[in-house]
Amino acid sequence: MANPDMTAAAPGTAPAAAGEAAWDSLVGAFSDRDFAGFRDFIMNAAGISLSAQKKNLVVSRLGRRLKLTGCRNFSDYHRLITSGQAPEEAQTAIDLLTTNETHFFREPQHFAELRRQLAARRQPGWTARVWSAASSTGEEAYSIAMTLAETLGQTAPWEVFASDISRRVLQQAVSGLYGMARAREIPPELLRRYCLKGSGPFAGQLQIDQALRQRVSFMQVNLTRALPQIGPFDVIFLRNVMIYFDLQTKQQVVARLLEKLQPGGLFIVGHAETLFGVTDRLEMIAPTVYLLPERQA
Ligand SMILES: C[S@@+](CC[C@H](N)C(=O)[O-])C[C@H]1O[C@@H](n2cnc3c(N)ncnc32)[C@H](O)[C@@H]1O
Repeated sequence: MANPDMTAAAPGTAPAAAGEAAWDSLVGAFSDRDFAGFRDFIMNAAGISLSAQKKNLVVSRLGRRLKLTGCRNFSDYHRLITSGQAPEEAQTAIDLLTTNETHFFREPQHFAELRRQLAARRQPGWTARVWSAASSTGEEAYSIAMTLAETLGQTAPWEVFASDISRRVLQQAVSGLYGMARAREIPPELLRRYCLKGSGPFAGQLQIDQALRQRVSFMQVNLTRALPQIGPFDVIFLRNVMIYFDLQTKQQVVARLLEKLQPGGLFIVGHAETLFGVTDRLEMIAPTVYLLPERQA
């Protein structure tokens, strides 16, 4: 990794948590009715289905927002984010209620399969287009971009489009800045070729090289709403997000995404996910890797 001349801002730090006693009383005051309100909020906003066991998750993730927004209790805060008068705070609540865990080259078999498929499909005049449809902080999108660059060439015609509902994760994704511990997830060869080692204020961080960053575009997209004018794509990654949706939402989201997939294109889901009962339009060609058949004449 070369030393970069990094000028982008480092990600901000989280506000301090409330004191322990205040915290206990906050948890005690969080009623089942409060929980139902936040459960409905995130279901309507993002299609995320929260089970009753997620009560503590809501308290721990949203609790600190009460003080910061001047709300006396959770029902005030719920009123604020559903009032339509505080869209910024509603977005913050969505950011906090989504789970954004990810890493570089997660589920490496998918990247091996992508490499195989790209090599087989490569032909003059072809621009490969891949969508990372719930990209979180960008590790998936940059792993795809490294795979495309390695297989098709760094300056070949290919595009990676990446999206997420959370504005906070997209900010980090665009910066391409990650803690140095993430370097372990990237094969050494690719680390050398596509990543820079931070120094000065960026010591302890790595940054995706600018040339690769420029090949990836990020946009906020809510998969449970009408999609923007994008695509069509040759490959769509929809990994580790369907687990948060109920069956009906999965069916609607997948149907919407398939409209953006080229016939003959690939649809890749997470290893803990299945498309059984979700769609019958796809054929499985490898575990969790599906093909959209060419249209019949
Ligand atoms: C666990 S991460 C998965 C990241 C990456 N795909 C992976 O497999 O490592 C799930 C992501 O889905 C996003 N998400 C949840 N609901 C969404 C929705 N309705 N539309 C778009 N993104 C959503 C979350 O913000 C989160 O970043």
